[in-house]
Amino acid sequence: IGAAALVGAGTGLGAGEVLPPRAQPAGEAATPPRLAMAAAESPEGGPARLQPGITGTPPAFSHVLALDVHGAGGEGASEAAAVAERASQVLRAWSAAAERLHREGPAAVVPGAASADLLPASLSVTVGIGPSLPAAAGRGDARPAAMADLPAFATDALHEQWCGGDLLLQVGAEDPVVAASAVQHLLSQGREHARVRWSVRGFRRTAAAAEDPSATPRNLMGQIDGTNNPAGSLLDQTVQVREGAGPAWMAGGSYLVVRRIRMLLADWFAEDVGHREGVIGRDLPTGAPLGREGVDAEVDLAAEDARGRPLIGDHAHIRLASPQNNLGARMLRRGYNYDEGWRADGTRDAGLLFMAWQADPARGFVPVQRNLADNADALNEYTRHEGSALFAVPPAAPEGGYLGQELFE
Ligand code: HEM
Repeated sequence: IGAAALVGAGTGLGAGEVLPPRAQPAGEAATPPRLAMAAAESPEGGPARLQPGITGTPPAFSHVLALDVHGAGGEGASEAAAVAERASQVLRAWSAAAERLHREGPAAVVPGAASADLLPASLSVTVGIGPSLPAAAGRGDARPAAMADLPAFATDALHEQWCGGDLLLQVGAEDPVVAASAVQHLLSQGREHARVRWSVRGFRRTAAAAEDPSATPRNLMGQIDGTNNPAGSLLDQTVQVREGAGPAWMAGGSYLVVRRIRMLLADWFAEDVGHREGVIGRDLPTGAPLGREGVDAEVDLAAEDARGRPLIGDHAHIRLASPQNNLGARMLRRGYNYDEGWRADGTRDAGLLFMAWQADPARGFVPVQRNLADNADALNEYTRHEGSALFAVPPAAPEGGYLGQELFE
C-alpha cells in the first residue's frame, strides 16, 4: 500500500485528498506558530549569512550525524581529487535538498504527505566540514587555523566510534518524524560518496510541556541549562566568523564543537539536593545563582555567606566555566539530551550532546574545557566525555551555489 493511499485511509477520503484541519478542543492551546513554519521563514533572526539551526530557539528534536567521505583516509594527488569530487557532490546535493526542505517543508520529501498532516515544524538543516577534509581533498592550504584539531583533555574518556567525521549534518524539527524523514532524504542523496560514522538523536522539551515554551529548558540532570548564554550583539560576535579572520570560504560561518557527554544519572540522583546545587552553583527549582533571586539574576562569583564563605564554591561548574576565569572565553551552548537506554553493565546510556558554537574554538570551547578538566569541575564526577568532534560550518550557500563551494574551487 503506497503512502499516497494511506493519506485518506479509513477517512472516506480518496487518495490525494486531505483531512480538514482538526477542530480545536476547548481549552487546548492553538498550534504554536513556530510549528507551522519552515526554517526559512521562522523568526530565527541572528546574523545574516549563518546557516539555519545555529541561533534562534532550538527545535525540540535534532538528528546530529557525522559522515566519512569514501577514500578520505588515502594518499596521493589523484585520490585527493577524487575525495574533493565526492565531497563536493554530497555538498551540492545537500544544499539543493536543504533549500527545498526549508522552502517547502517535509511534504517535499515524504511521499504522500500533505501540508495538513505533516507541518514544516521548523525544519532546519545545517551542514559542516570536519578538520581532516580540506587536506584529504588536496586543499590543506585552505584549512583555517580555527579548524585545528581539538587538544586532548585530562578528563577525556573518548570512544573512537563517537569521534570525528568529514561532514556534519544537523537536522532539527519540532516533530521527530519530520526530522527522521528529512535525514532519510538527505542521506539518500550522498549514499555512494559518504557513509555515516556516528549519529545521535537529540531531544529537548517540547512546546507541549511548558507554560512558557520560550523559557530555558531542563536537561536530564534536572538543571535549567542554557541560561547564561550570550545574547544580542554579544551573540553575533561570539558565534560568527568575521570577514578577514581566516580563509574567505569561512567568513560569515561558525565553528561547532560537539561532545557526547554521558551523565552518571544514578550517582547524580543519589546526592541530596543541596549537594547537587553546589556542584553547579545554582538553585535547582528556580535556576537562580546561589544566593540570588530568579533565573536571570546576574552571577556574582564574589558573593559570600554570613560566615564569609563563597556562595558559589571554588569547584562549582559556573565558577570554572565563567568567562571571567577563562580570559573572556564565550560560546553559544545549544545542546540536546540523548537517551540510548541501558548498557550491558546495567547503567543508563544517557546524557548531553553538548554543542557549542563560536567564531574560534581556541577562544571559546578549548580554554573552558581545559579549565573544567584541569581544575576539578565538581560536575566531572557525574559526567564522562565519550565522543568529540569539531566542524567548520560555512555560511549559507550563495545564490545558485552550494555550501562550502569556495573550499573546492
Ligand atoms: C553553565 C550544565 C558541560 C560550559 C551551566 C549551567 C548548567 C550546566 C546547569 C548553569 C546554567 C546556564 O548558565 O546554562 C552542564 C552539564 C554539562 C555541562 C550538565 C555536561 C553534561 C559543559 C561543558 C562546557 C560548559 C563541556 C564547556 C567546555 C558552560 C558555561 C556556562 C555553563 C560557559 C555558563 C557559565 C556562566 O555562568 O558564566 N552548565 N554543563 N558546560 N556551562 Fe555547562
